Amino acid sequence: MSNKNQKDHKKELIICLGSACFSRGNKDAVNTIKNYIKEHQLEDKVYFRGCHCMERCQDGPNLKFEDKIFTGFPSDRLLYVLDEIFHKYL
Ligand code: FES
Repeated sequence: MSNKNQKDHKKELIICLGSACFSRGNKDAVNTIKNYIKEHQLEDKVYFRGCHCMERCQDGPNLKFEDKIFTGFPSDRLLYVLDEIFHKYL
């Protein structure tokens, strides 16, 4: 199976790394999310990547999982948001 096919069957989690979201907590969220995926052994199910802007800067920090945007949560809520995403949608 090629890398492309391996990527295609995964669900996509996107973190906004545009300046507004970056400064509102997504800077630190990158490592937290990477660790979460590793600890929960989700590497085969989730394709995690960054993007430059989701065009909802005023609502940030923003995360997107498939078609759903998770927005405006304080950084100390990130783990709850990840639990919600992965328990509900995976
Ligand atoms: S910087 Fe995140 S939505 Fe624009």
